[in-house]
Amino acid sequence: MVDWHLVKEMKPPQTQQEWEAEFQKYQQFPEFKILNHEYLPILGLPEFRANASRIALGDDSPAIKENRVGSVQSLGGTGALRIGAEFLRRWYNGNNNTATPIYVSAPSWENHNSVFMDAGFKDIRTYHYWDAAKRGLDLQGLLNDMESAPEFSVFILHACAHNPTGTDPTPEQWKQIAAVMKRRSLFPFFDSAYQGFASGSLDKDAWAVRFFVSEGFELFCAQSFSKNFGLYNERVGNLTVVGKDADNVKRVLSQMEKIVRTTWSNPPSQGARIVATTLSSPQLFDEWKGNVKTMADRVLLMRSELRSRLEALGTPGTWNHITEQIGMFSFTGLNPKQVEYMIKEKHIYLMASGRINMCGLTTKNLDYVAKSIHEAVTKIQ
Ligand SMILES: Cc1ncc(COP(=O)(O)O)c(C=O)c1O
Repeated sequence: MVDWHLVKEMKPPQTQQEWEAEFQKYQQFPEFKILNHEYLPILGLPEFRANASRIALGDDSPAIKENRVGSVQSLGGTGALRIGAEFLRRWYNGNNNTATPIYVSAPSWENHNSVFMDAGFKDIRTYHYWDAAKRGLDLQGLLNDMESAPEFSVFILHACAHNPTGTDPTPEQWKQIAAVMKRRSLFPFFDSAYQGFASGSLDKDAWAVRFFVSEGFELFCAQSFSKNFGLYNERVGNLTVVGKDADNVKRVLSQMEKIVRTTWSNPPSQGARIVATTLSSPQLFDEWKGNVKTMADRVLLMRSELRSRLEALGTPGTWNHITEQIGMFSFTGLNPKQVEYMIKEKHIYLMASGRINMCGLTTKNLDYVAKSIHEAVTKIQ
């Protein structure tokens, strides 16, 4: 480790000789030899990109072994989506894709729409996802939309912990989705913003992406490290590209390099260094996986505690969806008037859609939140 006291006590050298002596002194610290503020390569820090793709696709991913995976370090998950969208508009299925339909789940993270629209796509559609009555996945609606989508349409799929519903397809359901997508030649663009936060396991949360790769799909996967590393403002993301073969990926990356050059020129290093150092050291990697699991387990505990309180209070309706949903968000099923009651009367703040952020629940406020939901549901129809 660098001895930072040395740095604080440093008196500025006056002569060239003193400068040189100073420089020599710091050469003993490897960090000083490695770290600097030079620009990173346009596509980003190689060890970050490789490790980020490795955690998305798995240690023994055949696609990585076959050399048909590439990646672009990006400004958060949003940047990965935007670079991917730009590329698709320019080069997917010909070189004018403004009319290619882009399918976004209903509902979805609202930026999906805007990112693809700003990248020039004119036909952004929704696919069925949330069944409000059932408070769960509308699998049949989703599959029907895939069946009737024009061939080569692009589907944005949440890799895990769907935002905002907290409802993910099961592995069996993913298999059905993949089968239709393959038959209909639909392009999967995964958005993986919460790997590790849904189940506590990186591998489980990447199951869908890895399954699609094993089925031979070419795909994109936008990864965000904002949440699972708590590096929101460092803007750390990665776009993993899985192609047919090494040559294809090389050509895709060369075009992506051109897009990055005119977008942010080259990415920032601080966050990427933190992630790369953590993912490439077995000891730090284990420690981080433990941290992610702690976060996920806390959310899972809050879910079961909230559900059991509502059931104990006899709050009208069913509350199993609270524990069936995963990740940071939950669609409570509260209607807009009940949400208004929660905000105005109880000062519990949630989205008009009824979405709550589970991270806001603690052992100290659980009782109050449960009683308030009970009141809202019983008083307001
Ligand atoms: C589904 C989804 N995708 C992407 C992002 C963007 O992540 P980032 O902040 O890393 O750009 C978010 C952030 O909320 C998200 O929920």
